[in-house]
Formats: sequence, structure tokens, C-alpha cells
Amino acid sequence: MRAYELIKKKRDGIELSKEELTFLITKYLSSEIPDFQMSSFLMAVYFNGMTDNETMTLTGLMLSSGSRVDLSDISAPRVDKHSTGGVGDKTSIILAPLMAAMNVKVPMIAGRGLGHTGGTIDKLESIPGFRTDLSLAEFKENVKDIGFSIIRPTDEIAPADKKFYGLRDRTATVESIPLIAASIMSKKLAEGIEGLVLDVKFGKGAFMKTIQDARMLARTMVNVGNSMGIKTVAVITDMNQPLGKTIGNGLEIKECISALRGKMPDDLKEVVLTLGAWMVYVADCVTEEVAISKLPEHVVIKYKSELMDFIEKGDAFKKFVEFIDAQHGDPETAFKPNMIPSAGKVKQIKVTGKGYVQTMDAEKAGMASMLLGAGRQRAEDRIDNSAGIVLNKKVGDFVNTDEPVAMFHYNDETCVKEAEDLFLSGIQVGEIPPDKTAIIIDVII
Ligand code: URA
Repeated sequence: MRAYELIKKKRDGIELSKEELTFLITKYLSSEIPDFQMSSFLMAVYFNGMTDNETMTLTGLMLSSGSRVDLSDISAPRVDKHSTGGVGDKTSIILAPLMAAMNVKVPMIAGRGLGHTGGTIDKLESIPGFRTDLSLAEFKENVKDIGFSIIRPTDEIAPADKKFYGLRDRTATVESIPLIAASIMSKKLAEGIEGLVLDVKFGKGAFMKTIQDARMLARTMVNVGNSMGIKTVAVITDMNQPLGKTIGNGLEIKECISALRGKMPDDLKEVVLTLGAWMVYVADCVTEEVAISKLPEHVVIKYKSELMDFIEKGDAFKKFVEFIDAQHGDPETAFKPNMIPSAGKVKQIKVTGKGYVQTMDAEKAGMASMLLGAGRQRAEDRIDNSAGIVLNKKVGDFVNTDEPVAMFHYNDETCVKEAEDLFLSGIQVGEIPPDKTAIIIDVII
């Protein structure tokens, strides 16, 4: 077998066999196939896609490049949630303690932010002392004792993905549905979970810009998960405007703390409760050993109200405090969010004129937050945990002349003007309130 022949086959749209893909991936991992040949193969995949069998094989190969956490001695159902990436998306940090309060175990291995998108790990690291580099043994202990743990990827988990992602990032091949699906699913399957709820985002601030692509990514990941024995469901959600009222790590943790105390903006609440309802239902399906089926609307409503009860009773908040403590952070932070570092400078951001906010481009808002220091342009960049944006207004709100639409928080002035221009270029106001659009678009089972 020769790499050249396999690249040519993919270029010509011919399906590769399991043996051929195994050859290509294992030889690349052992550096017998060089980057330039793998880049060429990835670009052929970008243009020609992969069949379900190929995607499944690729996922399996990435998964078996590392180890799989064994949590089989935990009796409660183990269900994770994963988002395909967005702006202001802090739902994992609210959902994990909420599930733990309901005796659904969440072993979560999360990522960092890149470009306009944020990452759960960066957000958590804004809590004083908090550590995301726990060993797999500590991770397992915390899942058992507290009900959840959130750590950064370790070298043992799907190491092949790290090598592939690095290459994709440099060769403009990140935005490929089978490659994204294999990358995400290999890491999720390694967590030792039995169920998975995917939040597949679409719109301006998401990887998937159209609803059609989001559906295709969701379908691919659901098929991979189910065929590998994990009960998987995907919820498609709108990411045209940022989620909630904050963008930026420390600011988002403060918003999570208020959410866990029962105060959530409507859009964030809808996404949290919908994903939460599906997580509880997937946990039921794991326990009862039945396949996931369409969940009737009245059951979703019932689960959402139970979830709200667990927040209002303070049980989810209590789990969050235990979690901070177990991961070496200062648990007082949950009671005194001002312990999270604040930026030295705050600037009011105003639109010209007045009217109803028609659009607030999530990608531009995410990039503006990155320019303020909250995100990274390249994986190796340092970030400022106190920087970011507080959104005073969202789509549909009325903004008066001289009223700030947002507040920029920053320490470094360098890119503030550029951030302001970019952020404001994504906002339109008009005389008539815009039509209300749903944030939950579809569920793929
Ligand atoms: N997130 C991942 O983990 N992998 C991708 O390929 C894209 C987003």
C-alpha cells in the first residue's frame, strides 16, 4: 500500500477500505507518512467528504490512539454534553453541577477557546486556584464523589486528534463535517460515558453557518455515537447572536454563578433547560436500556420544570461549590464572584441613533472579545481572564440614544478601537421590533 494511491483514490471520490484508512492513519501517527501527504489527503476529504463507514473507521482509529477512561464501576448513568463551539456559551458549567444534583454523572473533558469561540477550560481557569490538569485517577474520583469533573484533554485521550487538529488548523481543513465529527466523537467516546447530548450550533458564530450543514454534522455524530454503543442525541441551536449576557472567561463564570442561583437571561435558560431535559432523558434511556426516541413536548416541559426546581432549591449551586473545592479552586468564589479578577478599564459602547436591535453578529462579537484580550488568535497566545464584553442589549431589545448597547472590559488599550468598530459593524438597529426566532431549532435522534 502507498500513501500516494490512497490520496489519489480520495481525490477521485472513491471510498477507502478500513485497511486503507488504518494504514494511512497509523503510518501518519508513526511519522512514516509526512505532513505534506496527510495535508493533501485532508484537503481531498474536505472536498469529497467521507462515507459513514469511513467516518466511523476514522473515529475508531483516533479513539484507539489513546486510552478510554474506565468508569464502569460507577452505578449511576454517565452522560456528557458537548457543544460544537460558540460565543458566550457557558452551558456546560451550569449543566454539569445541575446533572450531578440529579444523580446523573458527568465526566467532562473540555477544550480551550480559539479565534472567536470560547472554551470551558479557559472559563474555569479564571476561578482563583482552579486546576483543570487533574490526573485521570483524580478525575474519576471526583466524578464518583461529587458527580462531575471537568478537565482539559490529557495526553492519554485521543492523542491522534491533537496531531490531526494541528495540521488541519494550518491547512484550512478544519471545517469538514467528517473530520469535525471524528475529532469530537473520538474524544467524547474516550470519557467512559454511556450517553451524550450534543449541542450543534449553527449561524454566524458557529462552525456550521447553515442549518443544512448543522443537520448533517448532527446526523453524522449521532450515527457515530450510537454505532459505538453510546446513546447519542443532538440538539440544533441558534448561534447567530452571543448566548446570554457575557462574553469572556471571568465574566462568563460570574454569569454561571448567577445562573446557578436561579437568575438566567431567557436565551441561556432555554438552551440550558432544553439540553438538561435531554440529558436527563438520555440518562433514563441508559438506565432502562432502551433506545432514544422522540421525546414528547409535555415531557420536555416536565423535565425543564424539575431542572429549575433543582436550581431553585440550591442543589446545583452546592454541587458547583464542591466542584471548585475538589479541583483546588477557592470555593468562596461561588459566594463572592468579585474574587474573580476584574479588568482595569470599562468602556460604554454605543450605536448611532436609537431603535430595536435587529442583529448582533456572534462571530464579530466573539472576535471583538478576543481583541480585548479574552481569546486567542493562535493556540499558543496568552489570554486575559478579566477581559470581555457585557451585553446590555440583545436582539429584540430597544436601545435609546446615548444608551450603551454593551460594556467592554479590558486592561490593554491596543485593540479597543478595532474591537469597537468590529463589534458595532455586527449590530443593526431598526424602527420595528424584529420577528422572534426560536433558539432551539431541531432535535436529531
Ligand atoms: N472541535 C473539535 O474538538 N474538533 C474539531 O474538529 C472542531 C471543533
